[in-house]
Order: sequence, then structure tokens, then C-alpha cells
Amino acid sequence: MLQTKPKKFDIAYEKTCSCKPTHLNCLTAKDWVKSQVAVWEFFYEKRDIRDKSIHPAVFPIALPAKCIEVFTHRGELVLDPFVGIGTTFVAAQDLGRNAVGFDLKQEYIEFAKKRLGQKRLAESKQLAICDDAHNIPDYLEEETVSLAVTSPPYAHMLNKPRLNKSIRGDLRDNGHYQKIQQYSDDPRDLGTMTHEEYAKSLTEIYGKILPLMKPRAHCVINVNDVWWENRRYPTHIYVVGALHKAGFELRNILIWDKRNLVNQVGIYGWPSNYIKLGATFEYILDFWRPPE
Ligand SMILES: C[S@@+](CC[C@H](N)C(=O)[O-])C[C@H]1O[C@@H](n2cnc3c(N)ncnc32)[C@H](O)[C@@H]1O
Repeated sequence: MLQTKPKKFDIAYEKTCSCKPTHLNCLTAKDWVKSQVAVWEFFYEKRDIRDKSIHPAVFPIALPAKCIEVFTHRGELVLDPFVGIGTTFVAAQDLGRNAVGFDLKQEYIEFAKKRLGQKRLAESKQLAICDDAHNIPDYLEEETVSLAVTSPPYAHMLNKPRLNKSIRGDLRDNGHYQKIQQYSDDPRDLGTMTHEEYAKSLTEIYGKILPLMKPRAHCVINVNDVWWENRRYPTHIYVVGALHKAGFELRNILIWDKRNLVNQVGIYGWPSNYIKLGATFEYILDFWRPPE
């Protein structure tokens, strides 16, 4: 049977604000200075989804919101290749940006649509698609995306029983203890892959995303390193390598300071094996499509 290609989206991508065309964003000088600090802290709000039975790894709305404010103008187009339950959409909708997001899992896409349905503004459009991120070029025109922001799976980090080692012993059995919380067992799911396979897939996916981005458009990736069978896997280094191979250039490394979210800490490794608490910070890697 002949497979028909999906039609490209009819979605706006030009800025609707009155800022000068050479400006990167709509920020005032005062807000620009604040965002130069390389350690970013975020707080969860009521609308954030923190129930791990809905999705095991959701970032706070404030994280994509900050990236959208720093790297886009009102009316421009944001892409999230691994959109999960659509946190990026909520931020884009709040800020009047159009957005397109992809996830392999239909259940997550349905949840994302429901989240958006709660507040509809005609000013911008957010589209949630259930498809493999490899297929993104089927849906978007070249040089239309002003920002790609996401938190991809951290390779096969979730593909093991959750031991909650960093949580105090008496609180460890929190309903997720000993459960495997991977997104899916689909072989295309980056969360099922070793770090080498993961980096290869990221290069393929981002190599296809590059021509869809406007020149000098930013591409932000939030990741954490992995601790697996007494070894450190520096996921962020794999991501930097993969994106370079895809043609992106690293511009900034920002730290998501999560100390405000760490509580009920258990003792881990004492007294012979020093292992940092995984939950105290994550990377926010900022790349761009280099100018020609
Ligand atoms: C860390 S989660 C993103 C969560 C999202 N930031 C949120 O707040 O809801 C990563 C997502 O990538 C999806 N995923 C994994 N491999 C994929 C692929 N090849 N194409 C599209 N989505 C994929 C998983 O289903 C998972 O929902």
C-alpha cells in the first residue's frame, strides 16, 4: 500500500511584536542582564504536573518559559521534539508563541492536548503530534523554527527498578519504589538505548531538525548525567558530541540549580564511596544553528 506523507503544517512563525528585527527577543535590558546569570532556578506552580504515574519525567513550566523568553519573539515558532505531556506548550501558550511538539506515546499526546484545552487563546497555536522525532521534517517547512527546546530521555536512565536511594530510608517506599518507569519499550524510544545508540539517534534527529531552524536560531537541551551500576555516564557530553555532529554549535552551558527542590535526603555512599546527589542540578545546553 502506498504511504501518503503528512501535509506540512499551516502554522505562523514570524514575529508579531514591534521589536527591531536584529533583536533576539522581546526582553528589556534589565531582564536581559538577569538572564545572563548562568545558574537558573525554577519553582513549580499549581499547573505543573508532578504525578509520576502520568509521566515519569516532566520539567517545570518555568524552564521552557525562560528559554522561550530569552530566545524568541512573540508570534515565533517553538519546536519540542520530545514533548511528553506538553509542558512546553503551556509555556508557549502563556507567552503567545506558536509551538509544535512530538512524542512517540499517544497517551502523552492526549494528555498534552487536554492540558492545552483548559485555556485557549486565538493569539497562538500549539500542535501536539504522535510521531517519531525522526519524522519532524515531514511536518515543518525549512527555516521556520526560532527555538527548539526539550528535555529528551536521558538514555536508558529510567530502564531499571527505581530504588529512591537519595530519599530518606523511611520515606523510600513512595509508591514508585522498585518500579521501572520507562516511557515505552518501543525500540525508537531514546529511553531504551545505551549511550552510544542514544548519541547516534540524537545526531540523526537533530541533523534533520537543523534545516528547519532559522539561521542563528537556538536549540536548548535539558539533560542530566546518569549513575548506573557504580559508573558515571556523562550524558551531557554525549549530547554535545551528537549535536556537533548534526551541525549545531554549543553556545552556553547553564546549570539548573535544583537545590530548592531537594528535601528528605537520604545518606548515599557514606562512609566509603562519595557519590553526589543526582537531583541537585541538571544541565541546560544551549546550541545554535551557526550563521552560514
Ligand atoms: C523527558 S520526557 C519529556 C517530558 C516533557 N518535557 C514534559 O514536561 O512533559 C522525554 C519524552 O521523549 C519521548 N520520546 C522518546 N523517544 C522518542 C522519539 N524517538 N520520538 C519522539 N518522542 C520520543 C518519550 O515518550 C518521553 O515522553
